[in-house]
Amino acid sequence: MRIAVLNGPNLNLLGIREPEIYGTVTLAEIEARLEEVGAELGVTLLFSQFNDEGRMLDAIHNCRGVVAGALVNAGAWTHTSLALRDAFTGVKLPYVEVHLSNIYAREPERRHSWLAPGALGIVAGFGAEGYELALRGLVRALSAAEGAA
Ligand code: DQA
Repeated sequence: MRIAVLNGPNLNLLGIREPEIYGTVTLAEIEARLEEVGAELGVTLLFSQFNDEGRMLDAIHNCRGVVAGALVNAGAWTHTSLALRDAFTGVKLPYVEVHLSNIYAREPERRHSWLAPGALGIVAGFGAEGYELALRGLVRALSAAEGAA
């Protein structure tokens, strides 16, 4: 099973960006840890990060027929972009939404997610470890769906 791990704007800055909120773990370190978990679960991970929303939309479209599901941290686009949710829906790609911080405990403008209504699940507030939790949840849900089919 292949899974896409999609990160949105400014997440390339993890490690130096507002460490009191996002921690000191870099995106490369998160991806390295996910590789270990992926190996344990027997899934192949495809990583990408975007600072351009159009490119992220194209990447979601290109997931069609290539991956079984996605983990997505859309960063600030979470709070602004219905287009991202439409892209996932448009290619029927199941996804789990991830945030390092608990967006529902932050500033009012971060307390709404356009992705949440279409997500299989959401993991927020557990820092870098949230990606691992989200991957385990996504693979379990996809495997259960596969078994039921
Ligand atoms: C974030 C939360 C967003 O509000 C913010 O814009 C980010 C990171 C998180 O992982 O906590 O870029 O998605």
